[in-house]
Amino acid sequence: MYSQTDKMKDRKKSFAKLLIFIAFLIVVLIYLQTRKPVEPTYYPHERYGYNGPKSDLDDLEIKFDTERVDEISNEIQKLINSTEQCDFSDFNSESEGSRIAKSAMDGFQKCVRPIFDSFNGDSRELFDNWVNSTRKCDFIDEYSNLDILGITNRDEIKWLIYPKCQEENIHVTLGVGHDIRAEMKLKKHQPNTKFYGVDPMIDINYELITYDLNGSFFAFALANETKIQYFPVLPKLETYSKQAVATLDVGYFFEKLLKLRRIDTLFLDIESGEEYFFDYFSKGGKFDEIGMSICQFNIEFHPGYTKNYDFVYKFLEQTIKDKRYIFLRPAHHVPGFFKMYFLNLENKECVKKFIG
Ligand SMILES: *[C@@H]1O[C@H](CO)[C@@H](O)[C@H](O)[C@H]1NC(C)=O
Ligand SMILES: *[C@@H]1O[C@H](CO)[C@@H](O)[C@H](O)[C@H]1NC(C)=O
Ligand SMILES: *[C@@H]1O[C@H](CO)[C@@H](O)[C@H](O)[C@H]1NC(C)=O
Ligand SMILES: *[C@@H]1O[C@H](CO)[C@@H](O)[C@H](O)[C@H]1NC(C)=O
Repeated sequence: MYSQTDKMKDRKKSFAKLLIFIAFLIVVLIYLQTRKPVEPTYYPHERYGYNGPKSDLDDLEIKFDTERVDEISNEIQKLINSTEQCDFSDFNSESEGSRIAKSAMDGFQKCVRPIFDSFNGDSRELFDNWVNSTRKCDFIDEYSNLDILGITNRDEIKWLIYPKCQEENIHVTLGVGHDIRAEMKLKKHQPNTKFYGVDPMIDINYELITYDLNGSFFAFALANETKIQYFPVLPKLETYSKQAVATLDVGYFFEKLLKLRRIDTLFLDIESGEEYFFDYFSKGGKFDEIGMSICQFNIEFHPGYTKNYDFVYKFLEQTIKDKRYIFLRPAHHVPGFFKMYFLNLENKECVKKFIG
């Protein structure tokens, strides 16, 4: 028989159950509230076991002459607008531009070479400490006549010098990654520019390059061979993941498809694909073979993906030895990767066009 006290007990029990349920709901609600919105994961560096320096983009790179980032003054824009047609026939190695280029290369060699040598073959040590140990070399007197300006992308800065004479400029972006903020600024500052964009992912990138930049878009990855390879790519859902993509030899692409002799500005950020053709830039390398010069480029190295720190080491070693490019503005964009700006001081047309 149900007694009055049994009924009370039952009621207490269901009340307790209700309380537990409400408490559970509150916990779930609090959890949902505090959970951060899903941020786009740009690079799954932790998964690759990288534990080197943290990104120093925020505290260091931004400090570079912030006033010289993005907003170019009316005076500079006027200068860009008013320059004369490029004429490379009268290049003269005694010119002011040649003198500045030579002095910049000397300053670079004097400052950077001993620091590079001090790493003595330890590529991981170099990778972790390069930014800190060479930052002082960005401010040497010998660079004071190079008009290096920064333009911001979504989460980083691209460095470049604007041309000192008029002609159609050639810009190439390898690895679009849904972001053409810097390219749009370039287009605004120097409207007479032909844009090429390459990315294995068509979504978003196609529209950005074709419609926003009025450029030519190509959907494949670049490497040193034409084949199917696995690469981290950025599909529409905004997380990098490894996928099978068709790669094309970058030398073949520039020489036979685009038929380029000179690239004025190159943005190279291809999620470790750069490892396959870093030697193309060297003296006597593939780009020399096909007779093509690159005046300036921003590159992001991704050894955090592959643990191949040696290629960065070799790339810098060869570049210092070649005395063709200076490199500066190093920054760890995100842990495991780092980026730098390279400027060609050897090619006559590059010197005339960008130095003076
Ligand atoms: C670089 O130097 C700064 C300031 O000297 C220091 O705070 C930072 O920890 C250093 N970073 C690395 C990776 O050594
Ligand atoms: C530079 O030229 C562009 C068009 O080519 C023009 O829209 C802009 O106003 C000019 N800027 C200056 C500061 O002369
Ligand atoms: C777009 O590019 C084409 C080919 O390079 C050029 O002929 C055309 O004038 C450009 N259009 C605009 C609006 O800039
Ligand atoms: C392409 O690069 C990879 C990695 O450096 C190398 O193993 C391969 O031999 C290269 N292929 C050609 C055709 O040079």
